[in-house]
Amino acid sequence: MSVNERANFGSKIGVILASAGSAVGLGNIWRFPSELGSNGGAAFLLVYLLCIVFLGLPVMVSEFLIGRRSQANTASAYQKLAPGTKWHLVGLMGVFSAFLILSYYVVVAGWTLEYTVAAATNSFSQGTDYTGFFNDFVSNPWKSSLYVILFMLLTHVVIIRGVTEGIEKFSKVMMPLLLFIICVLVICAFSMPGASEGLNFLLKPDFSKITTKVVLSAMGQAFFSMSLGMGCLCTYASYFGRDTNLLRTAASVGAIDTMVAVMAGIIIFPAVYSVPGLSVDAGPSLVFVTLPNVFNIAFHNAPVLGYIFSVMFYVLLVLAALTSTISLHEVVTAYIHERFKLTRKAGAYIVTVSCTLLGILCALSFGVLKGATLFDMNLFDLFDFVSAKFLMPLSGMLIAIFTGWYLERKIVRDEVTNYGTIRMPLFKLYIFLLKYFAPIAIMTIFVNELVK
Ligand code: TRP
Repeated sequence: MSVNERANFGSKIGVILASAGSAVGLGNIWRFPSELGSNGGAAFLLVYLLCIVFLGLPVMVSEFLIGRRSQANTASAYQKLAPGTKWHLVGLMGVFSAFLILSYYVVVAGWTLEYTVAAATNSFSQGTDYTGFFNDFVSNPWKSSLYVILFMLLTHVVIIRGVTEGIEKFSKVMMPLLLFIICVLVICAFSMPGASEGLNFLLKPDFSKITTKVVLSAMGQAFFSMSLGMGCLCTYASYFGRDTNLLRTAASVGAIDTMVAVMAGIIIFPAVYSVPGLSVDAGPSLVFVTLPNVFNIAFHNAPVLGYIFSVMFYVLLVLAALTSTISLHEVVTAYIHERFKLTRKAGAYIVTVSCTLLGILCALSFGVLKGATLFDMNLFDLFDFVSAKFLMPLSGMLIAIFTGWYLERKIVRDEVTNYGTIRMPLFKLYIFLLKYFAPIAIMTIFVNELVK
C-alpha cells in the first residue's frame, strides 16, 4: 500500500470499538481505582466526570477532526494543516509521548499477563504472601523482562496485520468480550459483604477532600483514560470514513470509557471493603496485591468461584491493556511508515524492538535499577509523571488552542458537521470550551500545582 492510499476502518462499529479499545485500558481498571483510592474517593470521581465532559470530550473531538481532515499520522497532520509553523511540534511531541507511555505501560501490561498465568495455574492458593509475590515478581529481572517481551510481541502481531485486518478486527472481538467480563464481575461485586461500604466510598463525595492536587490528578487521569494528547485518537481518526459523525463517536467513546472506569471501581472497592485490614489507598498495588487477597479470603468457602473470578479479572486486564498498547504502537508505527517512507512492517519492527528495550529498562527499575532515580522517582514513575501529569495536559491545551484559535473556523465546522450534512447544535459551546475554558482551566490547574 502506498502512503497515499490510506487504510480505512470498514464500519461504524469498528470505528467506535477501535477507539474505545484505545481508551479503555489499564488506565480504567488499574490506574483509576488507585488514583480514586488515594485521592479521597467519590470527590475525585466528581471532579473526574467534570474533566471528562468539559475538557476531555472537546479535546477528543478536536483530535478526531485534525486526524480525519489531514489523513495523516499525527506529526504530519499539523504540518498539513499549519504548514510553515511550529505547530508540527505538538504532533512530534505526541509521537514522542506515545513512545514513552508504551514503554512503561507495557511493564504493567506484562504484570497482567503474569497474573493471568498465576491465577489460571492456581498459584494464589491460601496462605500466599501477596506482597511478597508481587515484589518478588516485579524485582525479578528475567521474569518481568520476559513478560514485557511477550506483551510487545502480542501487540506486534496485531499491528503488522494492518488497520482493518489487525486493529479493527481484533477490537471487534476483544471489546465485546471485555464488556461481557466486566458486567459479570460487577454482578459478583454486588454480592460481596463489603458492597455497601465500597459503593459509599465510590459514590458519596466528601467535598472537603477536593484540593488542587486532587484536581490535577483527576485531570491527568481523564486525559490518560481517554487516550488524549498523544495523537492516538488523531491517528485513528485518520482512518475514519468521511461519513463518521465525530461528535457522536467522541460521546460514545467517552461514555464507554467512563462506564468501564466506574464499573472497575464497583468491582474493586466492595471487594476491598469485604476483607478487614485492607486499605483502599494501596495505590498501584491495589489490583496486584490487594485483589488476590480478596479473591482468596472472600471466596475461601467457594474456591472454585474465587478461581473463576480471579482468572476472569486478569484476563479482563490483559484484553484492556492490549487494545491500548496497540493504539500507542500505531501512533509511532504510522509516523515512521509515512515520515520515513518505510514499509509499515519495517516501522512496526522498529517500534517493537525499541519499545521492548526501553520497556525492559522500566521493568528493571523495580529491581536492579531501583537506585537509578531522578527527582526521587525511578524510571517507571518518572515516565508516568512526565506523561500523565505534564505532557498530556500540556498537549491537550495546545490542541484546544490549535482548533479553537488557529484553525480556520470553516474547516472546524465542515469537519464536525460533515460539510453541513449533520446538525451540531452544540457547536458554539464546543468552540467556547476550546477557546477559553480548556486553555484557562488547564493552565490554572497546572500552575497551581507546579508553583507549590
Ligand atoms: N487510555 C488508555 C488507558 O486508559 C491508555 C492509552 C492508550 C493512552 N493510548 C493512549 C493514554 C494515548 C494516553 C494517550 O489505559
